[in-house]
Amino acid sequence: MALSYKFLLLCFLLIFVSPAIAQTSFRPKALVLPVLKNAAVFQYVTQIKQRTPLVPVKLVVHLGGNLLWVDCEKGYVSSTNKTARCGSAQCHLIGLVACGGGKCGDFPNNPISNTGTIGDIRIDVVSVQSTNGRNPGRGVTVPNFIFLCGSEFVLRGLAPGVTGIAALGRTKTALPLQLAAAFSLNRK
Ligand SMILES: *[C@@H]1O[C@H](CO)[C@@H](O)[C@H](O)[C@H]1NC(C)=O
Repeated sequence: MALSYKFLLLCFLLIFVSPAIAQTSFRPKALVLPVLKNAAVFQYVTQIKQRTPLVPVKLVVHLGGNLLWVDCEKGYVSSTNKTARCGSAQCHLIGLVACGGGKCGDFPNNPISNTGTIGDIRIDVVSVQSTNGRNPGRGVTVPNFIFLCGSEFVLRGLAPGVTGIAALGRTKTALPLQLAAAFSLNRK
């Protein structure tokens, strides 16, 4: 990159655990997210795959975030999208949420530009890469990942190409614990 961009590749090891029992279906030992530092805007950017068909989604890493959000206004197309209904297990997991038109919502926010809005809680497929601790492994898929729908204007100030925020906080709805629960990994 000849321009002022300087990318630093970091490996962000989320979860590392040895499997107790060999299973017929593939169960990852550990999952890995690539993290690039965008030095121009001082943000760390990761990438997951989401939706059906799967598409790459770039997200700014928010270490204290509770719930991943993406812009659902522009370019969100997925045959497996589901909306969380008020009173559902997904809405309960998130805690205090707004309820309107039978759907529950929460407040996607962007701590960089200090913008926020209200958006629907949604459920869709997410895919991340597994690893054996040394080499990248196959992609693994979570069919019912809970996330929040943001709007285009909330993306203001985020690194180019980014369409949301990956929440890496300690709550059950943040990315690490949703993945840990889906694959019965230790909470590390
Ligand atoms: C959500 O899924 C339904 C059912 O497959 C589909 O009809 C609808 O177009 C999808 N919405 C989006 C935004 O992809």
